[in-house]
Amino acid sequence: MTERLPAGGRIVTLTRDEWLRRLRFKRGEHITIVGPTGCGKSFVAWQMLDKLTSPAFQGVVLVKKPRDELITRDAKRLHYRTVRSWPPPPSLWLARKPPGYVVWPRTNFTDVEADRLAKHILFKRVLLDVYRKGRRIAYVDDAFGFSALLDLKEEMIELWTELRSMDGSLMTAFQRPSMVPLWAYSSAEHLLLFNDPDKRSRDRFAEIGGVDPDLIKATVQALPQYHFVYIKRTGPRMCIVAP
Ligand SMILES: Nc1ncnc2c1ncn2[C@@H]1O[C@H](COP(=O)(O)OP(=O)(O)O)[C@@H](O)[C@H]1O
Ligand SMILES: [Mg+2]
Repeated sequence: MTERLPAGGRIVTLTRDEWLRRLRFKRGEHITIVGPTGCGKSFVAWQMLDKLTSPAFQGVVLVKKPRDELITRDAKRLHYRTVRSWPPPPSLWLARKPPGYVVWPRTNFTDVEADRLAKHILFKRVLLDVYRKGRRIAYVDDAFGFSALLDLKEEMIELWTELRSMDGSLMTAFQRPSMVPLWAYSSAEHLLLFNDPDKRSRDRFAEIGGVDPDLIKATVQALPQYHFVYIKRTGPRMCIVAP
């Protein structure tokens, strides 16, 4: 989509709208977003869901956090249906299939273990359902937490490696490059990398493979607020995307 990168040349910067307009996405491709809290991961994730999802290719947003006002706002804006269980209970007042779902279990703060177990069971059911049916994009925010805290590592790996054959996509967000498993780099066609203030953290971008690690590190390091480096793996093509 973006200009082919000239050797040693400067990297093109696109506005967000221009990038979204030119984004080439095929069902079955995965998206990986990396950046510290507050950098704009969820913001861009919803921008992409807005562009990519429809009743024929639904988004499924898995929410692990107890509270998040932004999710409520974005879900409304995109006409996603918020559900506490899976599969979505039948709705009498929704005539049409929504373009997506937000799966958001209630948190019972008095029993952390029970909360974790309930979320593990619910999200496992969602992930396996997405895997089985395909033709959807699952968005897992804080994918590290899903793997490590909710014990869904195997399901995530299954999706990264096998979902493509079902025309299903996985969009994941991570707070730090060190939390990104190699699967999330190697199987994702689209990488969105935000600036990370920590040098050792940025050094982990060298693991991406197929792209010049020094160029990525130098570019990411210079990114202003709400900017990210976008890499399309089969290219390889990259650009900077502004807010
Ligand atoms: N491109 C942008 N332009 C304007 N505001 C943005 C942009 N990206 C993020 N923000 C704002 O910054 C805040 C943090 O963004 P968010 O997407 O929640 O970050 P993250 O998910 O990485 O923690 C939000 O209030 C959001 O509205
Ligand atoms: Mg977020």
